[in-house]
Parts: sequence; structure tokens; C-alpha cells
Amino acid sequence: MQMKSMSKLSVVSCQLPVNAPASQPDNGQRTTNNSFAVAGLVLFLMTSCGGDPNSPGMEYMPDMYRSPAVEAYVDYGQDPYYFTEDSARVQRDRPSAKLPPAGTIAFASDPAKVAYNMPYPYPDTNEGYEAAGLGLKSPIAMTEATVEKGKVLYEKFCDHCHGAKGEGDGSVVNNGGFPPPGSYAGPLKDVPEGKIFHVITYGKGMMGSHASQVNKEERWLLVQYVKYLQNGGKMTRDGAVAATAVPPAAN
Ligand code: HEC
Repeated sequence: MQMKSMSKLSVVSCQLPVNAPASQPDNGQRTTNNSFAVAGLVLFLMTSCGGDPNSPGMEYMPDMYRSPAVEAYVDYGQDPYYFTEDSARVQRDRPSAKLPPAGTIAFASDPAKVAYNMPYPYPDTNEGYEAAGLGLKSPIAMTEATVEKGKVLYEKFCDHCHGAKGEGDGSVVNNGGFPPPGSYAGPLKDVPEGKIFHVITYGKGMMGSHASQVNKEERWLLVQYVKYLQNGGKMTRDGAVAATAVPPAAN
């Protein structure tokens, strides 16, 4: 029975040109060698199928799957394909998508935008909120064009809670039972621009931080649109147009 299956295998292998060069006589000895080689190969291949069902098995040429070049967002050393703890540790030590060291200031090629990359000096505390209200001023002059840009951002990020006119009647409030924020033209009428910026940055009460969604320049554009709504949808309001001077650390 065993002989039969082996000779079957050998027939297959003899059809392969590399195993049966035409110049060599196909004697019995050689056929047996081929049979063993093929049986060995089959056994070898089958060993990679057994064992732990959760194991991804052996990997042929791993550097084809895992590029030697460092790539962003690759969880080095965390994937299940590593072979030993040592090699995983080496991978984990690679510089990839790591956070920059604390205090790093991003480079801005446009000098007008350098101030946006400076660290935000007000902490996420009540004192920080009050201090921002007093000391933080907008670096962007309020013009119709910037208010228009702020409106586009407001419609994307704020409208669904605060409502199109800032009356606290957005769709999330109306449909989801979310507690309504105050109206910009009502209880929130006198919130100063520094506090508005601070609240977009850190959130307040039920409102979450929007710092990951809008950069600092976009936050100031949003502030302008909130001020526009605070003023009942009109441009002119004391302080709104005049707020152009920027203390360097104030944004
Ligand atoms: C998930 C709903 C939600 C979203 C989205 C949201 N807010 Fe709010 N917002 C609130 C709530 C609720 C409050 C009231 C927070 C409190 O005082 O406890 C609030 C308060 C505020 C205040 C008043 C802060 C103060 O000092 O009293 C401002 C200004 C404000 N939001 C601006 C924005 C802007 C700008 C956006 C868009 C970037 C935004 N909000 C997005 C729910 C939201």
C-alpha cells in the first residue's frame, strides 16, 4: 500500500524536468530518491498546517510582508508574527510614528503662521479658562471673508449641537435628548473670545474638546463666527473688529 502511493508520487516528480534530466538513465535508485524527496517535501509542508489554530503559521520571506523601511502607524513589535521577544524589542525600539518629545515646536514655513505652533499657555483648569478670557486675543482680524470661513467650519463641527444661529437647537439636541447649550445671543452673549477659543480647545461640561478636529487657525475662525452670532448675525461689535494685536504666546 505504502509502496503504491510512493510510486505514484515518483511518477509525478519524474515529469518535472529538473528531477529527470534526459541525459541520465532513469534507474530504480534515482526514482526512490525522488520519492523520498517528494514525501519529505509533503511532510514539511504539512507540518506548517498543524498546531495552534490561532497561529498564522510559518512565514516565507517575512521581509516581503514587513518592510525594512520604517512606516507610519505600524505597530512595531506588537504584531503576532515576531519570532522571539528579543526581535520584538528591537522592532519596538525603532523610531516610527512616535509622539515628538514634550516642548517640540513644529516648523512653519509661513512666518505668519509661526504663532499657531507655539504652545498653548493656558491650562485646562477653571483658572486657565478665566485667564484665557482676560488675556487671549484673536490674531485674525474679523472680516467678512474670515467670518465666512468660520461659518463653513461651524456648520461642520458645531451646528449639530448649537444650531445654525447658535440658539442651542441643533439636530443632536432636538433628536437625541442632548442637553441644549445656551444661546450665543442669550446667556452666552458675553463670553469673550479667549474663553471661546479655550472651550473649543479643551471642551466644557458636556461639550468635548475639538482640538483634534480643528487646528488653532481654524479655532480662531470659529471664534469669529461665534462672535458674529453673539452679535445677532452682524459684523460690528465692540472689540470684534479691533482684535488684531497678538501677544506672541497668546495663541
Ligand atoms: C456635542 C454637542 C456640542 C458640540 C459639537 C459643540 N458644542 Fe459648544 N457647547 C455644548 C454644550 C452642552 C455647552 C455648554 C457647556 C457648559 O457650560 O457646561 C457648550 C458651550 C459652548 C460655549 C460656551 C462656553 C462658555 O464659556 O460658557 C461656546 C463658545 C461653544 N460651546 C462653542 C462651540 C463651538 C465653536 C463648537 C464647534 C467647534 C462647539 N461648541 C461644538 C455642546 C456642544
